[in-house]
Amino acid sequence: MLIYFGMAIKILENQHMKRRKFIKTASLTSVGLTLGSTLVNCDEINTKTAVLQNKEAIANLKALPLVVATWHVKEATAKAMEVLQAGGNALDAVEQGCRLEEANEKNQTVGKGGLPDRDGNVTLDACIMDKHGNCGSVVYLQNITHAVSVARKVMEDTPHVMFAGEGAKQFAISKGFQPEDLLTEASKKAWEKWKIEAKYKPIINIENHDTIGMLAIDKNGDIAGACTSSGLAYKIGGRVGDSPIIGSGLFVDNEIGGCVATGLGEEVVKTVGSFLVVELMRQGKTPQQACEEAIGRIVTKPNSNYKNFQVGYIAVNKQGEIGSYSIHQWFSMTKFQDEKNEQIQSDYYNKT
Ligand code: GLY
Repeated sequence: MLIYFGMAIKILENQHMKRRKFIKTASLTSVGLTLGSTLVNCDEINTKTAVLQNKEAIANLKALPLVVATWHVKEATAKAMEVLQAGGNALDAVEQGCRLEEANEKNQTVGKGGLPDRDGNVTLDACIMDKHGNCGSVVYLQNITHAVSVARKVMEDTPHVMFAGEGAKQFAISKGFQPEDLLTEASKKAWEKWKIEAKYKPIINIENHDTIGMLAIDKNGDIAGACTSSGLAYKIGGRVGDSPIIGSGLFVDNEIGGCVATGLGEEVVKTVGSFLVVELMRQGKTPQQACEEAIGRIVTKPNSNYKNFQVGYIAVNKQGEIGSYSIHQWFSMTKFQDEKNEQIQSDYYNKT
C-alpha cells in the first residue's frame, strides 16, 4: 500500500495547529494567572499528541491514488487511473474517465447514444468540480458528445458556473467542439418502441447503469469529481435533473471529501443530496454513514413513494475511505485502487 507522507504531515500540521489553538484559548480564558507555565506544558503535550496523531494519520490513510464511479464502468475507472498513474491530477482523471463513457454509444444513459426525451431530442447534463471548489456545469446541451469537457471549459475559461441549452452549445462550438447527431439507431429504435405506449415513469436501475458520477483522489491527496448524464429517458422536453446541479448531483470539498449521485434526479435535488453527504462527513460521519443518512432523508419523508424510484450515492473522504448506499438493490460502484479495478455491490434500504 502506498502511503503519502506529505499528505499525512499536512493533516498532522492541521490537527496540531487546531489543538494548539484550542489549548491556548482554554488556558487564556480559564487560568489566566498561570499563562506562562501553561503554555510550556501545552507545548510538551502537543509534541506527544503530535507523535500519536502522526501515527494515527498515517495508519488511517488508504492507498492513493483512488478512483470510484457509479455503476459498472470498469473501462472508465481504468482510464481515470491511467491518467493518475501517468502523473495526471484528479480533475484530469475524472474528466477523461467520464469522456470514455460519453463516447461509448452502447451506454444509453450518457453522451452519444443517450436515450432522448419524449420528442426524440438527446439533451445532456454534466458538471465538474476541482480541488479548489471551482465548478462548471452544462444543462440541456444538445449535439455535443463530451458534456463533461464543456463543463470544464465553463469552469476554466469563463467567470460563470452554468451554461444552458443553445448558449451552452454555441459556447462549446466556440471552444472547438464538433456538433454531431447524438441519437444513434439503437436509441432511436428504443424511443420509437417507447412511443407506442408512451408511459412516463422512472425506470429503476435502468440497465444497471444510469448517470456516471466519478470521484478521484490523486497522489497528492487532492479530490475532484464529475458527473454526466442524458437524464431521465423520455423525459418531458426541457427537463433538467440533478447531474449538472452543484451540490445535488456532485459536491467536492477538498478538506473533507466528495459525493456523486445517481438515480431519479428530482429526489436528489429536493434534498441537495451530494452536499448533504459531504456536510455529514464534515460532522464526523464515515462516507458509508453519510450516504445512508442522505438516503434516509429521502425515504423517511412523509408520503415518500420511494418504492417507485431509485437513488444511489457514492462518497469518499479525505482519508480515502469510501461508502455507497441506495434505496433499492442492484446499485453498484466501481472502485480502482491498489491495482484492483472492481465492481462493488452497494448496500440498500428497501429490503422488504
Ligand atoms: N440522475 C440523472 C437524472 O435524474 O437526470
